[in-house]
Amino acid sequence: MSLLITGGAGFIGSHVVRHFVTRYPSYHVINLDALTYAGNLENLKDIEKAPNYSFVKGSIEDSVLLDQLFSTHDIKGVIHLAAESHVDRSISDPMAFIRTNINGTAALLNACRKHWKIFEGRRFYQISTDEVFGALGATGFFTEESPYAPNSPYSASKASADHLVRAYGETYGLPYVISNCSNNYGPNHFPEKLIPLCIHNILQDKPLPIYGDGQYTRDWLFVIDHALAIDRVYHQGKNAETYLIGGHNEYTNIDLIRLLCDQMDQRLKRPQGTAQKGITFVKDRPGHDKRYAIDATKIEKELGWTPAHSFEQGLEATIDWYLENNSWLEQVTTGAYQSYYKDQYKS
Ligand code: NAD
Ligand code: DAU
Repeated sequence: MSLLITGGAGFIGSHVVRHFVTRYPSYHVINLDALTYAGNLENLKDIEKAPNYSFVKGSIEDSVLLDQLFSTHDIKGVIHLAAESHVDRSISDPMAFIRTNINGTAALLNACRKHWKIFEGRRFYQISTDEVFGALGATGFFTEESPYAPNSPYSASKASADHLVRAYGETYGLPYVISNCSNNYGPNHFPEKLIPLCIHNILQDKPLPIYGDGQYTRDWLFVIDHALAIDRVYHQGKNAETYLIGGHNEYTNIDLIRLLCDQMDQRLKRPQGTAQKGITFVKDRPGHDKRYAIDATKIEKELGWTPAHSFEQGLEATIDWYLENNSWLEQVTTGAYQSYYKDQYKS
């Protein structure tokens, strides 16, 4: 059977593609990715020649290309990760998020509706985010019953996409499942997001920009644990249901960066406190959500998934990966990256 994974050259997508290609040799995994600034085929170098893997460069918004793909292959399932994913970029250029995350998802759903004459045995899996639920206060958790209340153009575009998926299920009977995950970290993470940005800046001896007072809280999950959860939901999740995925691992940004600084000092064999000198409080993100935290009881109880990595293990493995893959960091931080940060940052 053919499985279409969109956005497979990105951060999470590359781990998901690798997992499905290696774990399921009988699946033909087709990775459709537009290779935006965030997509990188280096992320998949080790599996690019696998006999059950194909890469197609193209956009999920391209209905003609989708028609070709769906007519050439018997696509039984779609795992949809392709997206514009960075909140700060959605603030400076919201239309790119509306095009990819909303129009692109709609084009994919239309292709499934058009080509899947029989829905039985098929599945559309929407990879979504906890950001669609908005912000939590000091206590409580997001659950599958939490109402949607997105605050950024990014989270609003993801919420719209989730609603479209659900609507295609209700209206046309399209079989679907949705999962909403908390913040991922790990290898291949583009260094615009907090953890890889700070690893990169520590290595470059640049400031570590902390928005506002640093008291914003995120719930961190190692990316490989997310890929394993996606396998569970894809194969065992109930039709038309939502599953929340999270690591039970809350940190304020400032505590997280202090821990990261200490681990980096240890790893670089420098006196403790060296990296922390770079911490710089900068202007806050507009509409910054105070806190995210996931109650993952449903996926734990119904699908038997729990994260396998502790945060300390995951963070160490992440730091090791960046130190061992300096050429990857150099490759992705040349050219357009430099001008993005010149415009973006930060006093
Ligand atoms: P990413 O930005 O690293 O990767 C996105 C990928 O999508 C890139 O390879 C890019 O080239 C591709 N892409 C972008 N526009 C495309 C288009 N029009 N057509 C085809 N491909 C296109 O993102 P990520 O962090 O890996 O996130 C993947 C998915 O998981 C997204 O849907 C995101 O909303 C969701 N998610 C991310 C996190 C997180 O912490 N990173 C948490 C929860 C959910
Ligand atoms: O919760 C899931 C979401 O997590 C995903 O849907 C998004 O795709 C992903 O980008 C991530 O969004 P965040 O906005 O939470 O991630 P980011 O790494 O951009 O920021 C994490 C926290 O750190 C957030 O509170 C903002 C803050 N921050 C971020 C950057 C880039 C800083 O303080 N300084 C920074 O330079």
